[in-house]
Amino acid sequence: MVGVCFWVFNIIFMINSCYAKTKDCPEVCSCLGTYVHCGSKKFETIPSNIPSWTTHLILQNNSIKKLTDVNWKHFSELKELILNKNEIVVIPKDAFKYQTQLKILELNRNKLKVIDPLTFKSLEHLSTLKLKRNKINELKDGSFYGLVRIDKLILDYNHLKVISKGWLYGLESLKQLSLSHNYINKIDVDAWEFCKTLFVLDLSYNNLESIEADTFKNLGSLLKLSLNNNNITVITENAFVHLPKLKILNLSNNKIWYTIEDANGVYQGLNDLEKFHLAGNKIKSINADAFVGLKNVSYLNLGNNNITSIQNNAFSEVPILKELVINTTSLICDCNLLWFLDWINLKQFKLQVTICAYPDWLRGQSLIEVTGNLTCDELPKPRLIEEPDPEIMALKGENITLNCKAMSSSLDAMTFLWKKDNIELANSNVLVKSRTEPDGKSTETSSELNLISVNHSDAGKYQCVVSNNYGTTYSQKSAISVLVFPTFIKTPKNITVQAGETAKLECAATGEPSPEIAWHKDGGNDFPAARERRMQVMPYDDVFFIINAKPSDMGVYSCTAHNPAGTVVVNASLTIQEKPSFIKLMEDKEFTSGEHVLKAYRKPTIIWLKDGEAIVRTERHFFIHEDQLVIIVDSVQSDSGMYECHLKNALGEETGRSRIIVKPSK
Ligand SMILES: *[C@@H]1O[C@H](CO)[C@@H](O)[C@H](O)[C@H]1NC(C)=O
Ligand SMILES: *[C@@H]1O[C@H](CO)[C@@H](O)[C@H](O)[C@H]1NC(C)=O
Ligand SMILES: *[C@@H]1O[C@H](CO)[C@@H](O)[C@H](O)[C@H]1NC(C)=O
Ligand SMILES: *[C@@H]1O[C@H](CO)[C@@H](O)[C@H](O)[C@H]1NC(C)=O
Ligand SMILES: *[C@@H]1O[C@H](CO)[C@@H](O)[C@H](O)[C@H]1NC(C)=O
Ligand SMILES: *[C@@H]1O[C@H](CO)[C@@H](O)[C@H](O)[C@H]1NC(C)=O
Ligand SMILES: *[C@@H]1O[C@H](CO)[C@@H](O)[C@H](O)[C@H]1NC(C)=O
Ligand SMILES: *[C@@H]1O[C@H](CO)[C@@H](O)[C@H](O)[C@H]1NC(C)=O
Ligand SMILES: *[C@@H]1O[C@H](CO)[C@@H](O)[C@H](O)[C@H]1NC(C)=O
Ligand SMILES: *[C@@H]1O[C@H](CO)[C@@H](O)[C@H](O)[C@H]1NC(C)=O
Ligand SMILES: *[C@@H]1O[C@H](CO)[C@@H](O)[C@H](O)[C@H]1NC(C)=O
Repeated sequence: MVGVCFWVFNIIFMINSCYAKTKDCPEVCSCLGTYVHCGSKKFETIPSNIPSWTTHLILQNNSIKKLTDVNWKHFSELKELILNKNEIVVIPKDAFKYQTQLKILELNRNKLKVIDPLTFKSLEHLSTLKLKRNKINELKDGSFYGLVRIDKLILDYNHLKVISKGWLYGLESLKQLSLSHNYINKIDVDAWEFCKTLFVLDLSYNNLESIEADTFKNLGSLLKLSLNNNNITVITENAFVHLPKLKILNLSNNKIWYTIEDANGVYQGLNDLEKFHLAGNKIKSINADAFVGLKNVSYLNLGNNNITSIQNNAFSEVPILKELVINTTSLICDCNLLWFLDWINLKQFKLQVTICAYPDWLRGQSLIEVTGNLTCDELPKPRLIEEPDPEIMALKGENITLNCKAMSSSLDAMTFLWKKDNIELANSNVLVKSRTEPDGKSTETSSELNLISVNHSDAGKYQCVVSNNYGTTYSQKSAISVLVFPTFIKTPKNITVQAGETAKLECAATGEPSPEIAWHKDGGNDFPAARERRMQVMPYDDVFFIINAKPSDMGVYSCTAHNPAGTVVVNASLTIQEKPSFIKLMEDKEFTSGEHVLKAYRKPTIIWLKDGEAIVRTERHFFIHEDQLVIIVDSVQSDSGMYECHLKNALGEETGRSRIIVKPSK
């Protein structure tokens, strides 16, 4: 009996608490469990009577302007807060200070403009943040800092222009970032440093024009990248090597052309790529190397490009291709496409629209239908018959001219453009000369690019691009290097050092490219100091040392500065001198009158003094052995005194003294 009673009590308690909750439900709202729906109620402020037990609060489609109307402190249980379609202008600092349990926050379709730093800092459980269709034009550094568990950040349809590391700071767990329909035209270097776990990145419908080598650096986990509907023309070589895991790349509806028509290796590194969208670009022809590196692509969409030609084996780099979308009405249906038809048959691909535009008698027919009529009698696509050399070296200040000449079997005008490092040269000094063959059957056009007084900024890879209605042809790239003859900025001086000391010779030169410095001794490569490991050439300095110098190091040292523009040489002599020294020290001596006094010393300049006065030559005083020896014959007592010998050379002086006493003879 007692047990049953208890059971009944429990039931009553539960019913009560449940009832209590629904009873608190604000009048116009509807509640279910701890869910409170107050959407589409024309609220201008957040109702003050929302129960504190609410876990999911839907306030969508009202006219709420401020987030400060309510005491958020009460809602510490909140897990989901939907505020889409209101009129919120700012998110005040600490607005969500107490909502540490919040997992989902939606603020789509409000009037936010700026997100301040640390706005969401206490939302450590938030996994989804939606800010779509606001007017956000500025995300301050650290805007999202503190969102340590965030998964998904949606910022589509705002007014953002730049992606910077500053506002991505702290988004270390982010998996999906959506930024489509903004005005993004710049992605900072290292922007993604904090987003290494990103899987999905949507940058479609922005204003990107180029993809640089580091644009996607640090996105090593990315699986899907949407870049469709931007303005992309330039893609730097190896720009995608940072995305080894990417499976889907959407580049549809951009302005891509030469990265497919000409370049090689632009898409290298996308080893895992499976789906590649390139529809709606400016691709006219497909180069044999266009898809190098895309070994795993099974879907390739080239639809909606006016493709005129496809080079032989252009798809050999995509061996497991299962679906190819090509629809063009601009094909040149000639023998160059025979391989393509064979390949299509082999792969059993179904071709969409592929209509010939040329030759005239096949115009409008489907490629499949004209299989038997593909000939190469005419070559309407421009063919280059003259193009610039692959390598050109120019001295700074020179004038350079590059030439391209093309032929076509069609009478259509051919237009030239010149590119430098893949970028079209604007307002360059280009002269186009046009000539039509007299028989009226073909066209020959040439173009000349003049570079006046080249300097370093002109160095690069140049290429001419010639197109007509039937296609585009690219010349080989001509690498121009601009050289500056080497000139010395430091030259070695003639030096004399004492044996045992360190000899230092300096030499430095500038030029373009930086000259290499080499040393020679007496015109050769034999350095005694090198053999004896006493020589040191500093790799990052312009100094050359000989330590513990020896007489064998003496000679003429030549410093050579060399670069492809030329060579300059400067000489310096190194003299090693030994400091004068007494081989035999002078000592005091006693003689007897009449004895001959001898003193012997070594080189160089030698001055003899007696009692401070120079010894002069007399009948009895002789200097021999280049003054090293003084002989006094028939010495007399007055020869006694302090004899001094001064040795002197460029390195120093020595003085020796000896007292001579001449005693009277017995
Ligand atoms: C938004 O709320 C208004 C009433 O305020 C209602 O007429 C309208 O249908 C709602 N729109 C949506 C999409 O719910
Ligand atoms: C796209 O780039 C072209 C120049 O290449 C420019 O004129 C145009 O305004 C750009 N369009 C957009 C939407 O940025
Ligand atoms: C790629 O972009 C095009 C053009 O906007 C779009 O039609 C297509 O659905 C996109 N594909 C994928 C897989 O995102
Ligand atoms: C190629 O794609 C398949 C799935 O289609 C995947 O299983 C495989 O790992 C990929 N291969 C390489 C080398 O990435
Ligand atoms: C190619 O396909 C796209 C859609 O996939 C279409 O909009 C376009 O008109 C087609 N072009 C031709 C020439 O059929
Ligand atoms: C393709 O060619 C057709 C007619 O030749 C032209 O109307 C269309 O604008 C071209 N499309 C592109 C993307 O260049
Ligand atoms: C084109 O091919 C068809 C059948 O393949 C053939 O009957 C016709 O003579 C060919 N036309 C020309 C001009 O070769
Ligand atoms: C380079 O061309 C300019 C302009 O045509 C001319 O004035 C100048 O003398 C030329 N310089 C050389 C080194 O030929
Ligand atoms: C090179 O020449 C261009 C214009 O011809 C000039 O803008 C640039 O400053 C020059 N650069 C140097 C390093 O002299
Ligand atoms: C260096 O010595 C050489 C002879 O070895 C001489 O011809 C030259 O003029 C000297 N140079 C200087 C700057 O004294
Ligand atoms: C520099 O020294 C080398 C080797 O001793 C000699 O051949 C050359 O003529 C010298 N050059 C000058 C400018 O003195």
